[in-house]
Amino acid sequence: MNDAPIGIFDSGVGGLTVARAIRAQLPRESFVYVGDTAHSPYGSKPIADVRRYSLEVLDTLVDQGVKMLVIACNTASAAMLRDARERYEVPVVEVIGPAVRRAVSTTRNGRIGVIGTVGTIGSRAYQDMFEVDERLEVFTAACPRFVEFVEAGITGTPEVLATAEDYLAPLRDAGVDTLVLGCTHYPFLRGAISYVMGDGVSLVSSDDETAADVYRQLVRRDQLASSTAVASYTYEATGASADEFTVLANRLMGHEVRDVQLVQTGVITLPDLSGFEDVDALRP
Ligand code: DGL
Repeated sequence: MNDAPIGIFDSGVGGLTVARAIRAQLPRESFVYVGDTAHSPYGSKPIADVRRYSLEVLDTLVDQGVKMLVIACNTASAAMLRDARERYEVPVVEVIGPAVRRAVSTTRNGRIGVIGTVGTIGSRAYQDMFEVDERLEVFTAACPRFVEFVEAGITGTPEVLATAEDYLAPLRDAGVDTLVLGCTHYPFLRGAISYVMGDGVSLVSSDDETAADVYRQLVRRDQLASSTAVASYTYEATGASADEFTVLANRLMGHEVRDVQLVQTGVITLPDLSGFEDVDALRP
């Protein structure tokens, strides 16, 4: 048993979908959630920058004594999963592996679609995990405008539907029967995505799958919170003001995020990877 909090990290507010799933599945677990609002969004940034920002935030969580790290951001998971597992002693859970496993067990025809940020799709992290199994065919699309819509609180307008049609028609036409929502924000657009893809396509989202993985890893290590533990939730942001985080978080999640504290990350120096040819070394 271990009553220390779980550390959850995202580029901003999107990872709150994962935090919400952890709260629902593990009501006795406390967590510290950090949104790296100083550097958000990650989706369009060079992978080497995302990697550095992410490790800086994870360092602050480890300094706060968390028992586990959850990288609740697809772009960050794609950029630095391997580094995180090498750098920290506490277990690291990320969002890509759990979604991949669910998609593999869901597909019937072996044709799987993945949507995500430019960074996530460009990293090929999902494609590489799926393509270990040669029977699977993977079709991808980067959907950068989806994050903009969600952060503006726009989820059900005709413009969202038209954009979804543009992004998703090639995947639908390719005959995928399973679509991975490979970005923290996309569960908020489930209605439009599902409408465009049609009833025959199963949507897999990282939030529930990742929470299930957190449970699995805690059980395996005998690290679940005790049966008398009373959960507490701490929210932190790295940007100049907590207000932006709070407003957006409450718009997306309902009024459950309060007392957001500002934290500063340390600056770490990593080898300069610009122009680095061997992108395999960057993949999980
Ligand atoms: N959290 C990011 C992800 O899941 C989306 C938002 C961003 O671009 O920072 O990829």
